[in-house]
Amino acid sequence: MTLDLAIRGGTIVTATDIYKADIGISGDKIAVIADRVGAATREIDATGLYVMPGGIDSHVHVAQPQGPGITLADDFASATASAAAGGNTCIMPFALQQRGTSLRQSVEDYRRTAEGECHIDTSFHLIISDPTSAVLGQELPALVKDGYTSFKVFMTYDDLVLNDRQLLEVFEVARNERALVMVHCEGYDTIKFMTERLERAGKTEPYYHAVSRPEVIEREATHRAISHAELIDVPMMVVHVSGREAMEQIRWAQQRGLKVFGETCPQYITLTAEDLKGLNMEGAKYVCSPPPRDTASQAAIWEGITQGVFQTFSSDHCPFRYDATDGKLNEKGRTSFRWVPNGIPGVETRLPILFSEGVSKGRITPQKFVELSSTNHAKMYGLYPRKGSIGIGFDADIALWDPNRQETIRQEILHHGSDYTPWEGFQVTGWPVMTIARGTVVMEDGEIVGAKGHGQVLSRQESDYVR
Ligand code: URP
Ligand code: ZN
Ligand code: ZN
Ligand code: ZN
Repeated sequence: MTLDLAIRGGTIVTATDIYKADIGISGDKIAVIADRVGAATREIDATGLYVMPGGIDSHVHVAQPQGPGITLADDFASATASAAAGGNTCIMPFALQQRGTSLRQSVEDYRRTAEGECHIDTSFHLIISDPTSAVLGQELPALVKDGYTSFKVFMTYDDLVLNDRQLLEVFEVARNERALVMVHCEGYDTIKFMTERLERAGKTEPYYHAVSRPEVIEREATHRAISHAELIDVPMMVVHVSGREAMEQIRWAQQRGLKVFGETCPQYITLTAEDLKGLNMEGAKYVCSPPPRDTASQAAIWEGITQGVFQTFSSDHCPFRYDATDGKLNEKGRTSFRWVPNGIPGVETRLPILFSEGVSKGRITPQKFVELSSTNHAKMYGLYPRKGSIGIGFDADIALWDPNRQETIRQEILHHGSDYTPWEGFQVTGWPVMTIARGTVVMEDGEIVGAKGHGQVLSRQESDYVR
């Protein structure tokens, strides 16, 4: 049997191992791993490179409606191209239920929008914004059985916030259906109070976004969500943790034996609230929630990463254009931070930042990088053992990394739909030079070479972490 693809001479890295071997790919699966594999139609020389499982980014926003006049900068084609360029082979965006609409209908709409447009595989979480009795009683249980095994709920944002009773009701469905619930932990009323007080004092520049949502508000909401999860006895993932306060709540819950998991993101190890200061409106480029904190918080996040408090490192990619009336600089956004859409682009830069700040600077091993960037995402969200590692029978989702390549992150080299990157000028050591998605080379030397439509929209199994 001639293999379709052979990757020779590289150093294979999984969450547990690092060793030199060849990989043979047949169709879209890894068929053989050996000292030396047989002839292949296409031969790839990986000498000097790391051969890693393709990144799985389990927290990205694509083509989600953002309210009147505001548009996300990526559709499924551009988001998945950008992800592939950043060494990813799978993304997990959200299918958002808008209030007053059917959850099932929302999901079908997203799925239809994504089908045929993706360069790499895609699988949806749900966002529940309107937990009616029909949603809780019928739609959600049926959707979980159809492979939508995780959903996100919000404790803030006018259009999304659930009150405590609604949170408990959604948690109860998650428990009964063995789904994983992801929670955005920031307090709605406290943020509103702070926002109005700042506006009354004329403090409306983008920087005050960070002042309006201090860590204590994130900590309170994190603790409240953990308490609700304990009450219902349901596993829970706290997403986009920004600093020590929330991290310590999660660690406390884990030490109590609760199934509480944590996710963090590049912005919380590299940016600070000072970045929101910038001349004129430049600070709007960094407005996201929770906001970046300070250097002590960055150190706390590393503590959480190395101690295993965080299972996943995601981008929370939520791209807007900066210089655009449907983006950061919308008309109202110039009058107050309250109207600056929350979110930053990052699906393409997530892994180079983690590799450089983590592996190249000696904070984590290459194996830990794989765990945080791929394996744990697959296990957490029910894609393991199809994805998330390099082994026989796994999808041939592979990224080749040059650990020594130095790059400067710049907007001009990126593939996202946004018109800026928060990491303009950021220097990294370590760069993905090839991405192979289900056996097909989709990115080579920064160029997208695969066709859109190669990526499939996947259903998922139950999370390994709810067992
Ligand atoms: O500011 C952010 N993070 N926007 C994306 C939506 C969310 O809360 O994850
Ligand atoms: Zn969120
Ligand atoms: Zn998000
Ligand atoms: Zn294909």
